[in-house]
Amino acid sequence: MTAQPYREPAPPPSGPPRPSRRLATYCNLGIAAIVGASFGACSRYGCRYDHLEESAGAVLGFLSVGAIVVLAVMALRRLSQTARRRAPYEPRDKASVVGIVLTSLFALGSALLTSLFWFVSTQSPSSLGIGGWGRPLRIGKRAVTPDVRASKEWARGPRPDPSGLDDVTRAVLRDLWLHDARKEHASVPAFGRVARHLVALGAPSDLVRRAHLSCLQEIDHAERCFALASAYAGEDLGVQPMPALYGGDDALPRDRTKALVQVATEALVDGALLEDFNAELARTALDDVRDPACREALVRIVEDESEHAALAWDILAYCVAEGGEPVVCALRAKNASIGETPESLYDPALVARVEALPDRAPLYAHGRVRPEHVEGVFRARRLYAGERLGAILRTARRAASQGAALSASN
Ligand SMILES: [Fe+2]
Ligand SMILES: [Fe+2]
Repeated sequence: MTAQPYREPAPPPSGPPRPSRRLATYCNLGIAAIVGASFGACSRYGCRYDHLEESAGAVLGFLSVGAIVVLAVMALRRLSQTARRRAPYEPRDKASVVGIVLTSLFALGSALLTSLFWFVSTQSPSSLGIGGWGRPLRIGKRAVTPDVRASKEWARGPRPDPSGLDDVTRAVLRDLWLHDARKEHASVPAFGRVARHLVALGAPSDLVRRAHLSCLQEIDHAERCFALASAYAGEDLGVQPMPALYGGDDALPRDRTKALVQVATEALVDGALLEDFNAELARTALDDVRDPACREALVRIVEDESEHAALAWDILAYCVAEGGEPVVCALRAKNASIGETPESLYDPALVARVEALPDRAPLYAHGRVRPEHVEGVFRARRLYAGERLGAILRTARRAASQGAALSASN
């Protein structure tokens, strides 16, 4: 029997594990998180992701930002462990350190990039984008309006008599009516977009005709508002070109159900709620207005915007009838996402100028809305829209279940 020579037991494996697998894991998770964050941020900012509701996109975005931060912390911890646990009998694994440093930079850079993206997205106007008096024009989810220039091309209609106004009040009235003129002008392509969508969906001629008629009515509103603003300005004012419209952003999803969902939800917010709100708010100004030109513009706006809201309800009902349950669900979700209070109607600097006036009675005599009416009117119209929508959706579901029962019995 031969004695076996004594051998030192092999040291247990120590030091950093092989980095390639961890590196790959971090990178894969990081890429997934960035994609998720971008998905969420884009969904909120206005990129077109038809498979995601806005809220789902936002949640995914927040989760992904959290995941990126966690990955960055894990990578940094790994780096410090590598530095501490390097054994004297094991050569320093340079590839490991380089890989971990790169992963850390990758994760931290991703977090910064996503934060920047998120910051930009939060600076964009919200989806509600209230403005007087027409239907908002959206590029992505931003409401856009034209810039103004001296021009005789848009100022058409009765003009007010500004002779009894002081210079400051005149300037405020000019800018208030210019605000409305720009919004009304933007409503023209907004209704052109609605008409195009209705044709794409194969909607009845009545809806298409009314969308085009609304377009003409918004031209009339814009001309009247520019005429009012021009009278206060002492020169004719019109619009500049709108390069934001050059590229076009009015494509519908190719899937018909998704297209119906988009048209229905836009009809709910931009027409059934906002144009109805605009009409009712303008109606409150009729109690105070004294200038005949301002009164005529307000009367026309109240009548036409009410018609536009009615058109939106009919478009919504058409989409529900055509699209069924997915449209019903989308409308419920959209309605639940609408806030209880309106955003500010006007630029804060303009609001401050209005508030600085010693006497606001001339504003009301020239057709401007009393600010104390805004919240109450919005709450009332929001409530009305919610109840009317609920009735439409209940009827649609009842009809669908009756149809299913009938086909089952046959
Ligand atoms: Fe309108
Ligand atoms: Fe309008």
